[in-house]
Parts: sequence; structure tokens; C-alpha cells
Amino acid sequence: MSGGGAPASAGGGRHAGGAPAGGDAAGVGGGTPLALRRRIVAGNWKMHFVTADAAAFCRELRRGLAEPRQEPAGPARPEVVLFPSFPLLPGVARELAGSDVAMGAQDVHPAERGAHTGDVAAPQLVDAGCRWVLCGHSERRRDHSESDELIARKVAAAARHGLAPLLCVGETREQREAGETLAVLERQVRGGLSSRPAGPAGVVVAYEPVWAIGTGLTASPETAQEAHQFLRGVVSEAAGQGAGAVTLLYGGSVTPANAAGLIAQPDVDGFLVGGASLDPRQFLAIIACSG
Ligand code: 13P
Repeated sequence: MSGGGAPASAGGGRHAGGAPAGGDAAGVGGGTPLALRRRIVAGNWKMHFVTADAAAFCRELRRGLAEPRQEPAGPARPEVVLFPSFPLLPGVARELAGSDVAMGAQDVHPAERGAHTGDVAAPQLVDAGCRWVLCGHSERRRDHSESDELIARKVAAAARHGLAPLLCVGETREQREAGETLAVLERQVRGGLSSRPAGPAGVVVAYEPVWAIGTGLTASPETAQEAHQFLRGVVSEAAGQGAGAVTLLYGGSVTPANAAGLIAQPDVDGFLVGGASLDPRQFLAIIACSG
């Protein structure tokens, strides 16, 4: 319904133009070709937009994506995914039909159905045209006290129903200042992936330092790389997949101005964009420099 971009396809054509050192540098797993890593640029619209805004955005995005690329011989365009809020899903699915932009939801309940007022189940998301779902975004951890254990059940529910879970992890400013960053990331990854059914689909995790979200304080490329290189090893081990099958997105005040420096890092495979994903021109510019 929302077009192609099947999340489980290990395609995506990753990192033409050079094998990223970080995948192997993480030294875990091995055996899976780096080509399985994917380039993905995703927009998390959070609690923004009504139907007309979403439709206008999708049309402008499709127009922009249809324009000839300036470097046709360059690397493939990244996969593009939009995460609208629940009421917008059917309209966005209609607008994206026939395109290769995929759609996902911002949350999912662990149960398939039942008495859970206000929640949405994985089969309902699939029915609405979703291919993806965000799990454990820091705003849900904060606003709804989501635990790693609950997030693990969401990840598992998504995977059981053929949705690609995009697990979000990240430390707060206090945790970073206390030197706890890597421990927090490891706990969130191991917790969040603990119930994920084994399968061939590559895992996708977003590193979103809480202090960088909506603050304009983007992680420096070096800070992002350090976290991503660490995460590649931990995710690979926790998911039982080669480091090369792990795709790691960065999120936190990504803009067209800082995206190029971040994507140049060997372990940054794409972005989960918040604020800048509400403006199709900015979002297109981030996509353009992430190919
Ligand atoms: P901003 O890009 O607005 O900082 O948000 C990042 C984010 O939370 C994406 O999920």
C-alpha cells in the first residue's frame, strides 16, 4: 500500500564507494557481507501535521525524488521512510502508493488485539500500509515510562507481524556527563532486542542521544561515530547477526547543514530526522547528501 521499500529486503545497496571500516572494526559477528548494510533516511513527524499537511508534504517529496539526480553514477539513493502519527496513516499510504517511499508508525502495542483502549496493534498497522514501526523512542520512554522489557515485547510483536522494528536508543545528558553512555546504550540494545524472533532480516537501530533531540545540539561526527561503532558490535551480538547486517541511523537535530559530516562516518548508515523532516525541502536535502 505504501509502495516498496520492503524493510526485510536486505538490499538497499549499501555504501557504494567504499567498505566502511567500522563494520569490521567492531569485530563482532563477521560473515555477513557489508553490502547488507542499508542507507536509510527516515522522517519522524512526531505529533505534527493534519491530513492536508501530510498530503502536501508527500506530493512535494515525490516531486523532489522524481527529479533527475545530479550524480546519476553515484551511490544509490537511500531508502526513505515516513513515520506519521496514527490518524494520518491511511492518507499518507494513499499519497505514497506507487512510490518507493515506505511508511511506518510511531508505536505499537505488544498484543495482537484486545482490551487496550487507545493503543494500536501490529496487524492494524500492517492493514494501514505500514512496513515499519518505531520502538522505544526516547519521547515514549519519557512520556509513557516505557521500559526496556516493554520495548522488547513491542519489537517482538512488530517482527512477528512482518513490520520492521526501528529500535531507538540514546543516553540523556546526565548519563553522558556521568560517563554512562556506553553502558546505557548496551542495556537498551540488549533489553530491546531480547525477545526479537530470529530471522534473516537485518536489524535497524537508531542512536538518538536525548540531549541532541530537538535542541539543535547535534552530536559531532566523532561523537556519533564513537557511539555507532560501539553499537555495531553490541547490536550484532544481541541480534545474533554479523556486524555487516546491522544498519545504524543517527537522530538528533539532523539538518542539511550537518548531515554530510555525519554520513561520512564509517558507521553512520543514515538518519532518523525529527524537526527537519517536517519541511520537504530540508528532508530532500538530507536525502540527497545521504546517497
Ligand atoms: P530532531 O531531529 O527534531 O532533533 O528529532 C530527532 C528525533 O527524535 C527523531 O526521532
